Amino acid sequence: MTRLFITFEGGEGSGKSTQIARLAEHLRSDGRFVVVTREPGGSPGADAIRHIILSGAAEELGAEVEAILFTAARADHVQTLIGPALDRGEIVLCDRFGDSTAVYQLQGEDIDPKLVERLERAATRGLRPDLTIVLDVPAAVGLERARRRRGKEAADRFEKDNEAVQEFRRQAFLKIAADDRERCVVVDGTKAADEIAKEIAAIVDDRVDAGRLDAIGRNLTVEASK
Ligand code: TYD
Repeated sequence: MTRLFITFEGGEGSGKSTQIARLAEHLRSDGRFVVVTREPGGSPGADAIRHIILSGAAEELGAEVEAILFTAARADHVQTLIGPALDRGEIVLCDRFGDSTAVYQLQGEDIDPKLVERLERAATRGLRPDLTIVLDVPAAVGLERARRRRGKEAADRFEKDNEAVQEFRRQAFLKIAADDRERCVVVDGTKAADEIAKEIAAIVDDRVDAGRLDAIGRNLTVEASK
């Protein structure tokens, strides 16, 4: 069994869901058990909160309340889905996690970072991703992809923010990655999907084989050491 928690982060239209599906396919073809999930949401309780946030219903209550809602959703997600899957020794691939809160709720907002830190710790009970893939695309490219994807549907709470805000978030993701090179790898999301999928598969395979994902002391390399 290979117990790994891998998150995907990046701006709107960075191609996370496509690449998560490709990585899941790759890992399953190697005989590994994979759970694919996303935030906000991923469990019934968190999905209910997702609707409140993305409809924009909480926007006027401010960044702090939104951060509380995101972390409340994360608490349910970690307790009911991610934690149990990792305990079964499975690989969990999650579309967005704590770095999204750090970028979307903390950057440029009038909010107490210590409060968010404490909420985050309570929500995750100390669980941190073993590996985070940051898919990087220029804001203009991501916004155009997101616009095409949703067709006639209205942009959600965060998609509607302008290009300058999206570019600011892009830089914030890159900074998180630069500050935590052990955990994060930046992948150029403007390349062809096949090429990106190969690159990500190689990164994950390499880390699994090298046992370098065992950053928090878990036995992740049982298969590799057989
Ligand atoms: P979603 O429809 O899942 O889009 P995406 O494909 O971009 O992930 O929308 C999730 C939105 O919620 C996205 O705009 C980022 C935002 N978000 C936060 O602001 N904070 C968070 O902690 C998370 C997990 C997401």
